[in-house]
Amino acid sequence: MNQLEEIRAQMGACDDRIIAALEERMGCIEEIIAFKRENGVPIFQPEQEARQRGDWDAKLADNAYRGEIEHIFEAMVKSSKRIQSKTLVQGNIMLIGFMGVGKSTVSTYLCEMLAMDRVEMDAEIVAKEGMSIPEIFATHGEAYFRNCESNLLIELQKKSQQVVSCGGGVVLRPENVAVMRQSGTVVLLTASPESIYDRVKDSTDRPLLNGNMNIPYIEKLMEERRPRYEAAADVVVNTDDTDIQSICEKIIAAPWKK
Ligand code: S3P
Repeated sequence: MNQLEEIRAQMGACDDRIIAALEERMGCIEEIIAFKRENGVPIFQPEQEARQRGDWDAKLADNAYRGEIEHIFEAMVKSSKRIQSKTLVQGNIMLIGFMGVGKSTVSTYLCEMLAMDRVEMDAEIVAKEGMSIPEIFATHGEAYFRNCESNLLIELQKKSQQVVSCGGGVVLRPENVAVMRQSGTVVLLTASPESIYDRVKDSTDRPLLNGNMNIPYIEKLMEERRPRYEAAADVVVNTDDTDIQSICEKIIAAPWKK
């Protein structure tokens, strides 16, 4: 064997050890999940993740390949989170609620916590149609936009492990609700009309509120839609006066559809 082949063989042997070590590590993750379930410990513990990063920092302090190894460790953490998420959530997490309840913010944080894929329905429709939501409403009308939503929901049902931030009006069609409920667990986020007004008052992106940007109108529309939201939801979480981490922990602690 020439020298190059010898080095390649040595590297192949390294890969075998890495595969075996990763298998062992993932087995540990499964054991941790089983332990946490049996003992009622929260599945996701950000403080433990921070401690682990501190340990790695110390272990890699003088390592010549520190940056590269850290990069691989990041991927490893992501894989571990995916393993954990799969034991928790079988389908998708469908976030619903009125405009401004915090669906987008919650979905960003949840995806980070669970290493799931993030889908923003409004953004998907905007990208597909090549125009903004107010432009879609103005050019094609609301019914066309609602058809885009229904079609997208059916598309999304084909995949799992996604956190879907649904447009505020998807619950208006009963057939959408049926698709969402088949797609995964439906989480309703709620907030007071005052908080909602505070969060959306400067937005020009929501045609339904253009010209109606005031608390009484928001309250009226919320009340009209409330029964639809509540009927669609498996889980309800309020987002008033609560920090994002506590909101996501409440969502994660919810009973999930299997
Ligand atoms: C709508 C909510 C909006 C957007 C469209 C219509 C609604 O989404 O889909 O403006 O009918 O409530 P957000 O709830 O994400 O703002």
